[in-house]
Amino acid sequence: MQTQREKSKLDWQNLPFGYIKTDYNIRYFYKDGKWSEGELSTEETIPIHIAAPGLHYGQQAFEGLKVFETVDGRIVAFRPDENAKRMQRSCERIFIPEVPVDMFIEAVDRVVAANARFVPPFGTGASLYVRPVIYGAGARVGLGPADEYVFIVFVTPVGPYYKGGFKPVKALVVEQYDRAAPNGVGDCKVGGNYAAGLRGGEYAKKKGFPIPLYLDPKEKKYVDEFGTSNFIAIKGNTYLTPESNSILPSITNKSLMDIASLLGMNVEKRPIAIDEVEHFDEVGAVGTAAVITPVCSIHYRDKVFKFCDEEKAGPVITKLYEYLTKLQTGEIKDTFGWLHEITVK
Ligand SMILES: Cc1ncc(COP(=O)(O)O)c(C=O)c1O
Repeated sequence: MQTQREKSKLDWQNLPFGYIKTDYNIRYFYKDGKWSEGELSTEETIPIHIAAPGLHYGQQAFEGLKVFETVDGRIVAFRPDENAKRMQRSCERIFIPEVPVDMFIEAVDRVVAANARFVPPFGTGASLYVRPVIYGAGARVGLGPADEYVFIVFVTPVGPYYKGGFKPVKALVVEQYDRAAPNGVGDCKVGGNYAAGLRGGEYAKKKGFPIPLYLDPKEKKYVDEFGTSNFIAIKGNTYLTPESNSILPSITNKSLMDIASLLGMNVEKRPIAIDEVEHFDEVGAVGTAAVITPVCSIHYRDKVFKFCDEEKAGPVITKLYEYLTKLQTGEIKDTFGWLHEITVK
């Protein structure tokens, strides 16, 4: 019999950022005001009531985080407590009962341990992506929060998000579609934001730009964020990122701000006018999936702001990328206490 430590036979070097079946997911059910004990399941599908508010009214939230094998063979999740807290904020906004932080982390620990053979080996650049999702279940036809909820965590091994790895991409400022409303749910990880962003993303892609950049939905004057990642910029010795209530508070961005400070940089979080962007030295799109995608140019109306060569990222973004990716795999000491070790029997 195979032990959990024996790896699955996957082509680790060439994994897509896509779904690969693993052995288990974990499920918790909320009924009569309480969460059940989590159950590991081998089923990939879920029965859902045809009148579930998660289906009709988008009463749903999700998260995304990664698990790595470190250089010394440990299995670690990167800041799962931050994802737990962010999911609590998303849930609070859309009337989903809170998942306690301990329950969220227990779910991650159990589902990762049960699928340990799918954690990509150290050195492959791949990781185990963890996707928690929560939705309003049971039957309700009139608009209102559900009485029952389901919280599921599944995992899937993934390669780098952008094919070609750490390579600069061009971004297009998309003004004809917004992903979020001024006092809406742009700062929550809820599915509706992503459905709203599909059209803008497709519009950018058709014009030859892998990622869209959105401006603030109220005045269209300030930078908000890329389709699925935060905006960061480097100017001299300063790390800049927008302050806005319609962007998702990225855990990668939060971590990079701390790393930038540690490396002696100034960190500024403030509204960034789109007109200021042409003065930046380097720009990056940051998030769990890609860590940092260097942005070589931003196309805004009839203007093109250039930051780096199409083949090579700028030096500061490269340094930040290396620091964070090496910290995640234990090659740089985790002085922040961000790695959460998962015990596998
Ligand atoms: C809209 C959006 N912004 C930013 C991010 C980056 O957040 P994080 O670094 O927590 O993955 C994501 C998700 O990954 C996102 O979907």
